Amino acid sequence: MTRENAEAPVRVVQLTDTHLFRDPGAALLKLNTQDSFEKVMDLIGANETAIDLVLATGDIAQDASREAYLRFGDAMRAIDAPFYWIPGNHDRRRVMENLEHYQQAFHNLAEIDNWQVIMLDSSVAGEVHGHLGEREMAHLENSLAAATANPAIDHVLVCLHHNPVPGSAGWMNDIGLHNDEDFLSVIDRFGIVRAVVYGHIHQELDFERKGIRYFCTPSTCIQFRPDVMDFTLDELNPAYRWFNLHRDGRIESGVERVTGHVFEVDHSSTGY
Ligand SMILES: [Fe+2]
Repeated sequence: MTRENAEAPVRVVQLTDTHLFRDPGAALLKLNTQDSFEKVMDLIGANETAIDLVLATGDIAQDASREAYLRFGDAMRAIDAPFYWIPGNHDRRRVMENLEHYQQAFHNLAEIDNWQVIMLDSSVAGEVHGHLGEREMAHLENSLAAATANPAIDHVLVCLHHNPVPGSAGWMNDIGLHNDEDFLSVIDRFGIVRAVVYGHIHQELDFERKGIRYFCTPSTCIQFRPDVMDFTLDELNPAYRWFNLHRDGRIESGVERVTGHVFEVDHSSTGY
């Protein structure tokens, strides 16, 4: 992908865990997910001037309905940039793949300036936790080998839905990526990965492990409170994340939350 202003860093927006329903009036733990998604899209419209790429990291739909995916895809038309999506535990890949207008969204590899973006499907049918099967692990290894051999690529960003390192709450222990050690050993073996980007645990994380940045991004709907044992919702507002990917491998990133609106959620819930 070539860009008009190649001097500027690559601007990436991440949207995750939109949990849309077939019925746009439906709510998740009392929160209308279509409404909160639209408020995040408004915020993106107000904040962002030149987006190069949108990454949607799973749980696009809560009920895996065709209607929910179509509404997400339609909303992406407001952004003048390609979007790529991967399934989360609530999604159904088959439904997403059958949307004829959004075939391009399933690209699992992108090159933009001297960055490569790898999209991995960590979803397991019928399970909350994640696993990277043989096909996805081969895609990861082959893409990293190709990037390493390609003189035009210097940096790689890897996306998946599930957290490959534990989240910051006790109840999250079993719902992350189950073959995390296999994944991390591949990521660490190639010296070209700069960042791993995910969603799933609905909270903001930005940390470094073995010289690689890890980013977890809040949902565009409900938020999970960190540092608790049992499932607890947080009071923080819906959000999206932005990245500036520089030619020299530096990454700037931030989370922008909806302001000026109080979202009502069911704080008595014990799960989602
Ligand atoms: Fe999820």
